[in-house]
Amino acid sequence: MNLERERQLIARMGARLTVERDLRDFCAHGEIVSALAVLVAKALGEDEAFCDELAVAGMLHDIGKLELADVIYGHRDDILAVERSKYVRMHPTLGIDVLRKEGGYSEEIISFIANHHENCDGTGYPNHLEEDEIPYGARILRVCDVFAALVSNRTYRAAFSVDTAIVEMIEDVREYDMRVFLAFLKVVYGPEFAPVKELIDKALTIEVDETPLVEANAVAAAQETHAGDRGEE
Ligand SMILES: [Fe+2]
Repeated sequence: MNLERERQLIARMGARLTVERDLRDFCAHGEIVSALAVLVAKALGEDEAFCDELAVAGMLHDIGKLELADVIYGHRDDILAVERSKYVRMHPTLGIDVLRKEGGYSEEIISFIANHHENCDGTGYPNHLEEDEIPYGARILRVCDVFAALVSNRTYRAAFSVDTAIVEMIEDVREYDMRVFLAFLKVVYGPEFAPVKELIDKALTIEVDETPLVEANAVAAAQETHAGDRGEE
């Protein structure tokens, strides 16, 4: 699957970011979620057309955050963590507008992105959907997104190992589609995981930006929201 168009869109919108590391993190996270989601979909027996849509949705799932780059990545000390978190919660819906404006993205792709923070137990956002009210592709993205965040460095914590990340996820397993979660486990402990592990290891070499302000904000945000604990917002 060629994701050049999606990489260009991220680069164009990512020009709004002021810290280069944020853009590199954003791209690395998109690449990991995209590659992993395709493997999980394949393990679930999905066809190539579905996998291609998921590859695109995985790459662009957080694109709405770049619409709010100033608030989310602006490293501003005049925005409270609770306020920032309110804006972060708008990003799945903002992603719909970005993709509609860009054109050429299917309604399936748009629905996967719009619902990638919904949890099967109804604790997600923006609409607190449950189980199969959540589009199938979004349920796959959810598992991959949480995992990708856990195995990445955050300003307020070091990356978890793969095994620790899985233990963390098992604690919250009610949030995930069980069939998807089992396929995900099979992938992570199977030989096909190697290229994704390479992407994860490469992302860990991105230098940590030592901006105290960001750290302070992030710690506060982490304490406020459950999603913040996992760093996947
Ligand atoms: Fe997201």
